[in-house]
Amino acid sequence: MNKPETLVSEDLSEALTYPVEAFISREYAEAEPERLWSKVWQQAGRVEELKDVGDYITYNICHDSILIVRDTPTTLKAYHNVCPHRGRRLVGNNTGGGPKTVAQDTGAHSAKGNTLKFGCNYHAWTFGLDGDAAYIPDSEDWNGALGTPGAFSACTSLTPVQVDTWGGWIWINMDPDAGPLREYLEPIATLIDPFEFDKMRYRFRFWGIFDCNWKVALEAFLEPYHVQGTHPQLIKYGDFYSFSKAFGLHGQTGFDSKAHRDEQTTAETSVHRAAGDGDPRDTIAQMQLEYWETIGASTSETLVKTAQRLPEELPEGTPAAEVHKYWLDTAKRIDAERGVIWPEISNEQMAAAGLALSVFPNMNFIPGPTFSLAYRVRPYGTDPDKCIFEAVALDRFPEGEEPETEWTYVEQDLDKWPYVIAQDISNMVEVQRGYKSRGFRGNLPNPWQERKVTNLHRGLAKYMGTGDLKPLR
Ligand code: FES
Ligand SMILES: [Fe+2]
Repeated sequence: MNKPETLVSEDLSEALTYPVEAFISREYAEAEPERLWSKVWQQAGRVEELKDVGDYITYNICHDSILIVRDTPTTLKAYHNVCPHRGRRLVGNNTGGGPKTVAQDTGAHSAKGNTLKFGCNYHAWTFGLDGDAAYIPDSEDWNGALGTPGAFSACTSLTPVQVDTWGGWIWINMDPDAGPLREYLEPIATLIDPFEFDKMRYRFRFWGIFDCNWKVALEAFLEPYHVQGTHPQLIKYGDFYSFSKAFGLHGQTGFDSKAHRDEQTTAETSVHRAAGDGDPRDTIAQMQLEYWETIGASTSETLVKTAQRLPEELPEGTPAAEVHKYWLDTAKRIDAERGVIWPEISNEQMAAAGLALSVFPNMNFIPGPTFSLAYRVRPYGTDPDKCIFEAVALDRFPEGEEPETEWTYVEQDLDKWPYVIAQDISNMVEVQRGYKSRGFRGNLPNPWQERKVTNLHRGLAKYMGTGDLKPLR
């Protein structure tokens, strides 16, 4: 057990507080595009969405829209989704917020399609996948200032945006001077590389527009400290006591116990820990079934089915660690038989990955050997009281059997979301309301279990120049 002296010297281990400004201030929300979103790497989709040359998607963040295209079989390009002529948004859709103004603005999650040329609907300027103008009507009227057909000058090209991939995800950065993605993602990238997320595919992807700030929605998933209050039905599987760490801008949580804080073993810290005091064969079987029925993610069908057989296949009294190992080994073998090959992840790597990781500023995911449940939350325009929330499940599939998925809009209606996620959503609007109370004096995050939340605000304060953490007195 750590002594209090050690705790005080540790990163963010002090009791700290931060104000509500980041959640409710209109001025703060309006400053985010410039101070934050134009500077950070952001997850903008999955590589699987851009299979063929000419496939494109858009990613909208506040007032900006980014067009991401597969320009060759092995490379991607990203551009600001705006026509250099007189500024029309090139490819429409309005999920960034704001009024629907034209037929293209369907309110869909994002635009997607396949084309070898992007034509602007206003004056018909046309751009190739390389972002250069391919056709400008009457270009000679500019008396050579735009160059000539086949050699148009740079002022006519789409404005490039940095794009890269990691973990099968596409990432963009609007800052031309931003450092490399990999550097930004560390140490998360190294912790998660063994899981080979690039070989996973979407199983489902849900999105909704919620009446709360994007940070309120994201924070609902950053710590398991809320399980006893929000998901009391899960407490029978263990107390969900967890550590929470700051990794620079990013964060991590993992199962923990008060008796031996932060001593990591797979059976204790991974998402599949053998939890609870009961017979581990039954606990794992029940917990897996309940996860499957009430979250629909954070595990896989094979893991759930294999867990149901544990009480029959293992003798009573089998120690938890052995049950856990047998379960994972069996699921791995069954998956291999249907052509789903798990990556080789050592116990140390599994334990080091922990339960959930957050990537600053707006993504959080639960890693598993054969699945991931990931959340991404964005502001809706610059409205401090609204956000675009997404929950996606990744899974492994036999080659050629990957499902075709689409973004599925799910209303802010608790009956429409998976039960456990709905329980989390139930807090969001109420927190947004609570933050506006004259009686709320500032957040009091748990210094051990909610450090990931505190760390988000430390990072935000750095970018935003306001909202510093203060020692709690
Ligand atoms: S604004 Fe696009 S062609 Fe004129
Ligand atoms: Fe939750």
